[in-house]
Amino acid sequence: MKTVLSGIQPSGKLTLGNYIGAMKNFVRLQEDHLCHFMVVDLHAITVPQDPADLREQSEAVAALFLAAGINPEKSNVFLQSHVPQHAELGWLLTTLTSMGELERMTQFKDKSSGKDSVGAGLFVYPALMAADILLYNADLVPVGEDQKQHLELTRDLAGRFNHRYGDYFTIPDPYIPKVGARIMSLDDASKKMSKSNPNPGSFIALLDEPSVIRKKISRATTDSGREVRFDPDEKPEISNLMSIYSECSGLSLADIEARYEGQMYGTFKKELAEVVVSALEPLQQRYREIRESGELAGILSRSAERAEAVAAKTLAEVKDRMGFVRKG
Ligand code: TYM
Repeated sequence: MKTVLSGIQPSGKLTLGNYIGAMKNFVRLQEDHLCHFMVVDLHAITVPQDPADLREQSEAVAALFLAAGINPEKSNVFLQSHVPQHAELGWLLTTLTSMGELERMTQFKDKSSGKDSVGAGLFVYPALMAADILLYNADLVPVGEDQKQHLELTRDLAGRFNHRYGDYFTIPDPYIPKVGARIMSLDDASKKMSKSNPNPGSFIALLDEPSVIRKKISRATTDSGREVRFDPDEKPEISNLMSIYSECSGLSLADIEARYEGQMYGTFKKELAEVVVSALEPLQQRYREIRESGELAGILSRSAERAEAVAAKTLAEVKDRMGFVRKG
């Protein structure tokens, strides 16, 4: 059985972009893969985090994984910081990574541009992400479009290690959905929908109340023109809303075009809001049940134990190959 690994940062409220681009595929893949899904708290601290917020968000993201349908009997759902081998392999891989490779990362450029002081962790972050994936020798990594470059670096690092120290790591493949790999901001379709955007009207959070979702969608920017037609170049705003509609309803883009032929944007947006509300309501309900049940801590700790058993073995073998002396 092939191995899948992915992670989501607990740095703010998860958005519909995270759900459509990543989480929905996690649920699909767990049916016929051995899966590890992680709350990557060590990644979140590459930008400053309030400790109380980090704790709350980490638990919230783990509960959302379960609420979205990840079954902890089948898949491992754990916190990155509970498995210390991530940080250690991250360091080993940092030493195989060049400054030039890290400087080319567009996420680093975006997150550091215009800042007076940029943390070194933000710079070396992709080596830690490579460690996350390679520790489990993952074959497939379900992510949105924005993580593609990090995945390419992971593949390069795995290849470099194998070349230097003998074939060991599996070279992972990205798993990027055809529709929904890049859900855009509701107020500006040239930017991706992001949980760190200071304008909450720009994203739909998975835990937004139905009334808030309706308001945000009714205020979403739309292109001038009137046709509900999928054309990301000419009509980026409507096309983005159509991708959301398609992913939340299961209708194809062609079905949606046919359904709204001759109709106004207003009608389309009103119905889109109901489609999103109905897609998120069951998830929100399960989320509240999981948080109230008190079962989360046990699930996270059992998963972390299983993950650590795999990670410790990989790390020991990697260290042997690199020439570290085993503790006697
Ligand atoms: P993060 O936390 O920014 O995002 C989590 C996942 O959501 C996807 N995503 C989107 N997909 C479509 N449209 C959007 N607007 C959108 N915004 C986010 C991301 O592509 C991602 O799949 N570096 C990673 C976390 C990470 C990781 C890993 C992922 C750490 N280690 C190992 C995979 C494997 C990140 O910052 O994702």
